[in-house]
Amino acid sequence: MKTSILTSALCWLIFQSAHSQTAIPIPDTLSGNSIALTMHQDSVQFFPGQLTQTLAFNQYAYLGPTLILNNGQNVSITVNNQIGDTTNVHWHGLHVSPTNDGGPHIMIMNGMSWNPQFTVLDKASTYWYHPHFHGKTAEHAIKGAAGIIIVRDNDEAQLNLPRTYGVDDFPIIVQSAQLDSNNQFMPFGMQDSIVFVNGVRANYGYSAYLNVPAQVVRLRLLNAAGERTFNFGFTGDMPFKIIGSDGGLLNAPVNATRLRVSPGERYEILLDLSSMNGQNIYLMSYGSELPMGVQGGPTMPMPPGNPPMDSPLNGVDYNILQLTVGSPTSNPVTSIPSTLVTVTPIPEAQSNITRLIEMTAVNMMAMDGPFFFNQQLFDMERIDYYIPIDNTEIWELTNNTMVAHPFHIHDVQFYVLDRDGNLPPVHERGRKDVVLVMPQETVRFITKFETFTDTVVPYPFHCHILMHEDDGMMGQFLVVPSGFTGIDDNFVLTQSITVFPNPTSSFLQFELPENELVSYRITDMSGKVVQKQDNFSGNTIHVSQLSQGIYHVWFRAGGKFYSSKFQKQ
Ligand code: C2O
Ligand code: CU
Ligand code: CU
Repeated sequence: MKTSILTSALCWLIFQSAHSQTAIPIPDTLSGNSIALTMHQDSVQFFPGQLTQTLAFNQYAYLGPTLILNNGQNVSITVNNQIGDTTNVHWHGLHVSPTNDGGPHIMIMNGMSWNPQFTVLDKASTYWYHPHFHGKTAEHAIKGAAGIIIVRDNDEAQLNLPRTYGVDDFPIIVQSAQLDSNNQFMPFGMQDSIVFVNGVRANYGYSAYLNVPAQVVRLRLLNAAGERTFNFGFTGDMPFKIIGSDGGLLNAPVNATRLRVSPGERYEILLDLSSMNGQNIYLMSYGSELPMGVQGGPTMPMPPGNPPMDSPLNGVDYNILQLTVGSPTSNPVTSIPSTLVTVTPIPEAQSNITRLIEMTAVNMMAMDGPFFFNQQLFDMERIDYYIPIDNTEIWELTNNTMVAHPFHIHDVQFYVLDRDGNLPPVHERGRKDVVLVMPQETVRFITKFETFTDTVVPYPFHCHILMHEDDGMMGQFLVVPSGFTGIDDNFVLTQSITVFPNPTSSFLQFELPENELVSYRITDMSGKVVQKQDNFSGNTIHVSQLSQGIYHVWFRAGGKFYSSKFQKQ
């Protein structure tokens, strides 16, 4: 019954408080070779009454500065954790090594710093950063610990596009959240009703605006919500052009009046406001046009015993941001190029493996999770895939649940091949790192795993609905060097098994479901094979000759792969 209390409190607010209009802040930028971020606790007066506890970076009380990076540059980022809890920061969409990526295996203790250093290898686009500490990603990110990353490159610089930050090129961070009766963020609710743009409240008697010049302007749209999909459009169905997706510019601008953006996704759009000086238009979410099953579309009837998912934002259209159009700048962009960059999707024939990922729930009707990939929850100790470096792969995602899931993978940008066998819409044919998979839909993408190998620290892939991710809708893969012989290239899934005793000084015993001949490899922590045997029967391996340390043992039996870590004493 929280909703009705909240809703009536909100109605009261609408009538009591004068309509409050706030200009959205455009975060300051940080650039150069050395960037310092401090994540800290803060608070914001989002509602009358109690302050809302937040997390933010540097001088901000909510969200963080925009990082501007140039393709080819080196950057060293110091992340200092002052939030009173363990956390980390992930550079969403950037192609960096697993130890610099800030996935779940990187942990920054309270009061400590983490210093990733990398070369920017990415194409010009809009990326973002946010915490990724397993089990607390939703809590930390929804409290405000997130920011935009803009990457620039030469191809983009040669185009006549708006790129003066805060003047004709704007970061637009859209979020929705649920607050409890003490005005505190609730990370796991599905009744999120408060809309934020760049940290400014945008509904229930509040509105957010942005002054824009009467010329071509660029909006970098980021959906940083925990769960909600926005169906962006402008009042009067004003047409706009989509110029970029998650990981780069498109071949050519795509005409649109609507743009569905699920959690984690980014799109860049251009709006021609040349003839609109003195007028206002609204960026809206047209939730009434989203299908049921997408969080943001009409509320699904919940089976008895399940928590409600009845956010007042579901299935309705609402304002997000008023664009207040004023005088043009002295040197405006007045036309939109007809072509952008050359996007070269990877031909399907180059793939040498298709990995099948099925999304499931405990039962078909479960809408609030937990949700699984291939019947398994995330396990920090289990590597789901060993991917040889430079492998080109097709990932086939099938959603056998009632809700849509935005699938995200670290390390790479991918190209969507098809949705249920049909070509994706034109704006989804560029570089992407998140794809929304609808209920009962199968989406295939192709990608290549390049540059970075690591036989110990994996990259994750997960649903970007943060509560699904925290609940375990996540897996992980290692990109391994060629010649890494601890594994076979052709297996689909490695399952973990138990070996005993562990630690051991002389032998290991194991039990495999298949009663067949077994091959095994034992690798040290660098991935080097230190002991192996093919096609033997039995269930005991003698390891007394290994020196002390941590090892991995890999079994292949009946065409399946199993692995376990063990300690040799
Ligand atoms: Cu935006 Cu793994 O995350
Ligand atoms: Cu990511
Ligand atoms: Cu999900």
